[in-house]
This record gives sequence, structure tokens and C-alpha cells, in this order.
Amino acid sequence: MRTFYVTTPIYYPNSEPHAGNAYTTIAADVLARYHRLKGNEVCFLTGVDEHAANVYNAAKAEGLSPQAYCDKIAPTFVKLWERLNISHDIFFRTTSDLHKRGAQKFLNVLYDNGDVYKGKYEGYYCLSCEDFFSEKELTDEKICPVHKLPLQWLEEENYFFRLSKYQDRLLAHLHEHPDFVYPTARRNELLNFLESGLQDVSISRASLSWGIPFPFDPEHIIYIWIEALSNYMTALGYETESEQYQTFWPADVHIMGKDIARFHALLWPAMLMAANLPLPKQIVAHGWLTKDGEALSKTRGIFIDMDGDITTYGVDAFRYYLLREFSFGNDGDYRPARLHARYNADLANDLGNLLNRVLGLVNKNFAAIPVPTTPGEFDDEVKEMAQTTVDKLDAHINVFAFDTALETIWEFVRRINRYVQQTQVWTLAKPETKPRMGTILYNSLEALRFISVLISPFIPETAEKIQKQIGLADFDTVSEWGRLPAGLTVSRGEPIFPRVDIKKQKQSEPEKVARPKQKAGKKTTDLVSFADFQKLDLRVARILAAEPIEGADRLLKLQVDLGTEKRQVVAGIAEHYNSEALVGKQVIIVANLEPATIRNVESHGMVLAGSGDAVVLATLETEMPLGTQVK
Ligand code: MSP
Repeated sequence: MRTFYVTTPIYYPNSEPHAGNAYTTIAADVLARYHRLKGNEVCFLTGVDEHAANVYNAAKAEGLSPQAYCDKIAPTFVKLWERLNISHDIFFRTTSDLHKRGAQKFLNVLYDNGDVYKGKYEGYYCLSCEDFFSEKELTDEKICPVHKLPLQWLEEENYFFRLSKYQDRLLAHLHEHPDFVYPTARRNELLNFLESGLQDVSISRASLSWGIPFPFDPEHIIYIWIEALSNYMTALGYETESEQYQTFWPADVHIMGKDIARFHALLWPAMLMAANLPLPKQIVAHGWLTKDGEALSKTRGIFIDMDGDITTYGVDAFRYYLLREFSFGNDGDYRPARLHARYNADLANDLGNLLNRVLGLVNKNFAAIPVPTTPGEFDDEVKEMAQTTVDKLDAHINVFAFDTALETIWEFVRRINRYVQQTQVWTLAKPETKPRMGTILYNSLEALRFISVLISPFIPETAEKIQKQIGLADFDTVSEWGRLPAGLTVSRGEPIFPRVDIKKQKQSEPEKVARPKQKAGKKTTDLVSFADFQKLDLRVARILAAEPIEGADRLLKLQVDLGTEKRQVVAGIAEHYNSEALVGKQVIIVANLEPATIRNVESHGMVLAGSGDAVVLATLETEMPLGTQVK
């Protein structure tokens, strides 16, 4: 068994946590859960970084002592992590004695090894970054480039750490370990920075009182970044070299936002080198979540309505959206309309309906999960794909490609939907075909068992719901196809992703798409003549390609094949279907509709769909040749 130690940054508790903090923590949670699933011994650390100037100021503004303020805010992080189903092993606070003693010991070691000296520092300082900015990084206004807040001039006698001494060793380490920093773009930035030369850093503050005293000079407190970074070891029991510390240090992965990669990939390793301690194996810096293109900021009041979206869509939809929609190393703009679209298309439609449909057929036709006695067409393909999905998932998770990892699972989900469709399983209830029906349903449930295990690191609540409905008591492994015991009683429960009322959503998303809507069940009163109806040229077509239209959340640009010609059609279905899932689908097209230009995109026809609160594409019961007329 291998050990796996993953950490998030410790967050400043100057106010309650925001979606950016949640993003980092959810990503770390996926890794922790995935490694537990693989049978590894995992330690997952998160916590709060309490000795910040920001915290001190926030406390003062509320008339509280910094400690009382931290005692009030720290639990709000724990509460959010509970709500988000975060499976951390340690929630660490830097005001704990364990941390204070550990941080002081670490400082002593650096001092004893000769890498700490006294000198004078002056410069512009950002209280939110807890960092100095050099003249060349500044504009005339002396504003923090990250927080856009005025910088403060600081001047004092400090202790310094000889960071410059480690420049060559750091360069060598980055070159010898190409995977040390992920993604490569961050690694290259750091290499450039390193090559331009490192300066020693001040590691004490004489002007501040909120912090951990220097062990050998109590007039000073330890600079927050120095003590904060050491939390990754002190939380494990570095001070006493506890068993936990010996088991888990060095960390496998430190996850963080790109803003603090430099502290983790240069300063932290240099300090560890100075203390003759092993370095963390990987520094993984993800992009920033933005809102309308702007960085989230507690200080500037730019935030994501995480609470509202979780209430509307559930925790798993929120986790799924963050992990599926954005490429982990890049920035991603949070858009509630996209969350809504993912919910409908991937979760409710692809996965929820599949479970519901298969369980419905089992319930109707069998007393329990049937024994697979009668192999047939497509079975081997499905079984093979289950195995390749497991392998591909592993490869994607190992490079933090959570979006591709989920897409890989969903390719399998969609394949099983197609399997059900291709085999027309619902038509096989006659006595002579019932054994084949049972086999197809068994395979579909076995695939759903695989899926439930594979999604469990990402959307654990859903994984559990699926297993419960299939009748499995425990989480099972996916190492072997066919382990689903026949004879289990399934219990088709409530839909795992119930329909969400989108009216509220529409109010907050002003973009309008002209989509005449007929409410389900409403009677049509205006009659048309048969001659008028005949004017419509309805044809069977196949979708060849689908892509989003920039600036139009509800629209997709489709390329369709009508047998005799290919066309481009704009369809208002982006909230309900994923581009990738559409390719290959047969649809019905109004082929003689006047061409129109919608959002600067030409549209030559219209795709038919059932259109109520949900939108479902109209299609024929079985496939027919392209171009066939629909009457
Ligand atoms: N306390 C330091 C970290 C010390 S670690 C030894 C700190 N704290 S913080 O509260 O400012 O939050 C840090 C982390 O929150 C970022 O690195 C990132 O992981 C996450 N995020 C903060 N804003 C974010 C976004 N807008 N988007 C994504 N993540 C963001 O820095």
C-alpha cells in the first residue's frame, strides 16, 4: 500500500470562505478520495492561516481580539467543507500550540544551519498578499497588482532568510524533476523568475504583534508566509517527529491557486533544503475562477453565489460543474447558465435518465437483478470500454485533468445509453427473448456500478445514491467486470437529478433566445389546414458537429447531414445538450425554413424538439436513411 499526502493552502480567515477556496478544496478532495479508492493510505490536510494582518484588521473593525475573531470565522470553513462533502483528515489552525511549537522549531533549525541573518528592509507591502513588491513591479499609484488596493510603505530591521543561496539548487531541482510544478506554463514562469535572480527574503516583523514570536528574538514575530508554509509539516507532528509525520512527509501534492505558486515552488523548497528535509513531490497550481472576467475577491466584493447555486442544484452538481467545465490549470469564468446546462445535459439527461430507465425495466420485467445467460451483440464492446475507462481515468487524474477525466466517464455513460438504444432492450420482454433482455439489463447495471465507483471521487453523494438504488450495500471496486451479484433487489428511487425550475435562472441571465414555447398539456386552438401542414418539409438528418456560439449561452451551431446535402443550423438547446453528446444523433429538421442569421451565425433550417421546462430532441423510434421525409 502506498501513502498519499495532499494539502490545500491554509486560507486566510479574514472573512468567510468563497467559491475560489471551495474550488481548490474540492480538487484536493477528488485526489484524496481517488487515492482512498485505490486502497492507498491517505492524509488530506486543509486549514486556516490565522496570523494575517488582514485577520488582525478585520477583528479590530469588529471590536474583537484577533483570536476571538478567528474562533468565530474558522468554523465557517469547517461548515462549508461539510456541506461540500470534503473528506479532509485534518482541519488545521495556525493558532494551535502544535503549530506554534513546530514553526518555532523550524525557525531554530534554519537559524542553526546559518541561513538566517539580521538586516534592514524597506519596501511597498500589500496586506492582502502579505508580500513586498519591488519598484519594477509597481505603477505610479503604488497599487497592489493582485488586490488593486493601496500598498503600505514598510521599513524595519528584520531577520532574513538566505534564499539567494538556493537559486542554483532550485534551478537544478526544477530541471531534474520536470513534473515538480504543474502545469508546464507555471513551471516555465518560475524558471524565468529563477533565472532572473533570487533575493533574500525578510522573515520577521518587528512592527506587528499578531503572530508567533521568533524563538531566538521575541521582539519579532515570524513572517506569516514562513510559518504558514511550515503548516504542511507541523500539522503532521513535525515538532516531535510523530509517526504520522514520518508516514506522510514529504507531501505528494500541494494544491493551490496560481497566485501563490511562487511561495510554494521556490521559497518553501529552499527552506526545506536549508533544513535538510525532503521536498514535496508536486506543486500543482490551478487557474483562477473569475466572475464576469474579474478575479473573485473578498476585499473587492466580487463573489459567486455558491450558496444559492448549491441550494438550487445540489452539492454534486456544483462540484461536477467546477471540475468538468474548467481546465484545471487555466482560469475559468463561472457562469450559472453553464451550470444549469451541465446539470440538465450531463447529470439529469445522460446519467439520471439512464439509471431510471434501466431500473424501470428491471422492476417491470424481473423480480431482481437477472442472471446474464445470453451474450450478444455489443456486450464485449461495452465490457472492454468499462476497462479502458478505468485506465484512462487513472491517466487523466495523474495529470490533474479533472475535466477530461469526467468526460472519459461520460463517454462511457453515453455508450451505455446507446447500448440500451441499439439493443432495443424494451422490446425483448417476450419469453423467447427474455434471457437476452436480462443479460442486457445485467450489463447495463454492471456498467452503472462501474460508473458509480468511478464518479465517487468527484460526486460522492450521487455515487452512493446509485449504489443504493442498484441494491449494493458497499462500495465495490471496479477491478473486475461481472462482480455485480445477480439476485439483488433494486429499488428505483426518486430521480437522482430532479428537474430544476429554470425561471429563476432566466431572470438572472438576461440573454433571450426566441423560442416559442408550448406548455406541456396546454390545448392548441389555432387549426392549420392539411395543405398548410404539407408546406413543411421535415427530413431525417444526422448531426455531424456541434459547437457553442460565443456570447450566446443557449445556442449551439450544428452541422447536419440530410443525405443529399449538408447544412448549418442554429439550435437553442445548449442548456440541455452537450456538444459532444450530440454528434452522431439522428434528428428531424424543418428543411424548408427561411434562412436566418442568429447572433451573426447563419441558420438553414430548424431542429425539432419537445420544448417545455426541459428540451428533448425529436427523433424517430429507430434510425432511418438520411433525408427520409417525416410526415
Ligand atoms: N494563506 C495563504 C496561503 C498559505 S498556504 C501555506 C493564502 N490564503 S487565501 O485565503 O488568500 O487563499 C488562497 C487560495 O484560495 C488560493 O491560492 C487559491 O487556492 C484559492 N483562491 C482564492 N481565490 C481564488 C479564485 N478566484 N479562484 C480560484 N482559487 C482561488 O493565500
